[in-house]
Amino acid sequence: MKKVILDCDPGHDDAFAIMLAVQHLDVLGITTIGGNCILENVTKNALKVLEVLDRTDIPVYPGHSCPMTVPLVTAPQFHGETGLDGPVLPEPTVKPRNKHAVDFIVETVMNTDDVTLIATGPLTNIAAAINREPRIVDRVTEISIMGGSVTFGNWTPTAEFNIYVDPEAAYRVFNSGIHVKMSGINLTRQCCLTAEHVKKFREIGTKTANLAADLTEFFIDTTIKSASLSGANMHDACAIAWLIDSSLIKAAAMHIDIELKGELTRGMTVCDYRHLRGADPEIDLCREPQMDFRGEKPNAEAALELDFPGFMELLYKTLKNYN
Ligand code: BDR
Ligand code: CA
Repeated sequence: MKKVILDCDPGHDDAFAIMLAVQHLDVLGITTIGGNCILENVTKNALKVLEVLDRTDIPVYPGHSCPMTVPLVTAPQFHGETGLDGPVLPEPTVKPRNKHAVDFIVETVMNTDDVTLIATGPLTNIAAAINREPRIVDRVTEISIMGGSVTFGNWTPTAEFNIYVDPEAAYRVFNSGIHVKMSGINLTRQCCLTAEHVKKFREIGTKTANLAADLTEFFIDTTIKSASLSGANMHDACAIAWLIDSSLIKAAAMHIDIELKGELTRGMTVCDYRHLRGADPEIDLCREPQMDFRGEKPNAEAALELDFPGFMELLYKTLKNYN
């Protein structure tokens, strides 16, 4: 099993990310970050989900409560006031660990070979870990993130929420030298759960499947009201599915950078789909996208197409294997 650290801000779709990761990957720890809701709540939510999964052995480390340079933006219109509204879950019996997420990330990566990072919230903790100990860049295998987009945004016309919340952190991560797998909004829109999926979760009937049903029901409702979409996009689960079964996602290598200054485009992931960065336009403009890189080497792979039936099969199987 791949060794991973999951940095998240649960969050309905983060909860699905936890369900998939805990069963199919070797989760060394979960770190939390203020994002969908304030840090205290997302940390509690991570603990609550682990409790339902009977996996309180996985340690949870709280991280930064807000972005590097700007105030925190949260998303109650999608995730409710607690960050995980909908299901009624008991208070967690286990407490978060008494160590900062950034310390946990740095120590774990420096002492363990082949760790993959996963981030399904703003990238503040990961950027802080790189700033604290730049040698982690060469130690980690790669980072799989949910964030950004090859096409349109969801928070502004050009920016996706996780990147929009802390663009400076995202800039640090994308420019660090760590290989980034980016599951952006262009991909996660293909992962759309509706009432039909909720019905199947209820049929499975396990306590985890019932949690999945309650979460999805709430998330469908808020997504329809707040974004006029036809169902709930389980964004964060895609970044995990990619690591579990890479055949579920078609991706392309490209250079991705983060816009920090644009009046209309702050937080945009600028995706060099045609590999023009660093190339000579006079010679290279007519190239096909898949031609060799003549300019800068790509720092990322952007997910483009999801095998949604395959993803759902993995999710149903996962839910059946929990209590
Ligand atoms: C991302 O924003 C959050 O609301 C979700 O949990 C996901 O990580 C989607 O833009
Ligand atoms: Ca998230």
